[in-house]
Amino acid sequence: MSAVVLKPSFRPGLPEISSEPPAIHSVIEALSLQPHIEGGYFVETDRDPLLVPSPFPPIPASSLMPQRPGFNSAHRNASTSIYYYVTPQSPQGNFHRNRGRTVHTLHRGRGVYVLIHADEPDLPGGGKRIESFVVGHDVAKGEKLQWIVEGGKYKASFLLPDDPGAGKETSDGLLISETVVPGFEFCDHDFLNAEGLRALVGAKKAEELAWLVKK
Ligand code: GUN
Repeated sequence: MSAVVLKPSFRPGLPEISSEPPAIHSVIEALSLQPHIEGGYFVETDRDPLLVPSPFPPIPASSLMPQRPGFNSAHRNASTSIYYYVTPQSPQGNFHRNRGRTVHTLHRGRGVYVLIHADEPDLPGGGKRIESFVVGHDVAKGEKLQWIVEGGKYKASFLLPDDPGAGKETSDGLLISETVVPGFEFCDHDFLNAEGLRALVGAKKAEELAWLVKK
């Protein structure tokens, strides 16, 4: 694991938009964001009308949960884009995986991304590779403005204070755009549970990362 500290800076509060402070509430309202099941807030901003053949192995109809009206599992939209916002009240996106590749672009704030490379062979010592990095505007310090997560990897994220040197641990939230290729569908998405986390990274690392698993 890298040197990035994997500890929460902010504790989740009431998961209600109305309980967010005014500066954050106004961003949520202006962008028409809704609570995301992963944590944080989102809105879909684009769904390319171009349909492409699904590049993914078919999912048995019996395990298909309810889908968007008109969804045909043989096709995908060529891409979809969302705004995604984690805030001091809803400060983390819990471990989940998409089958599509996701391009992330930072608009404001700072945070940490944690990836579990579930699609790679186990490390020589056992367990999957874990990667973490800071996303933020200080590119000279190695913070990322843009990051790509290939399909098949579990991803979690959490909020960091905007200005760690200022002695005050505050944030106006981490606002990004995500573009998924091919476009997002729930049948291509899954969450990691505590048991799955242990199976991927072993008991010790699972204990360290358990707070990033959806309850
Ligand atoms: N609906 C629920 N979650 C998502 C997501 O992450 N992306 C898109 N495009 N739609 C969603």
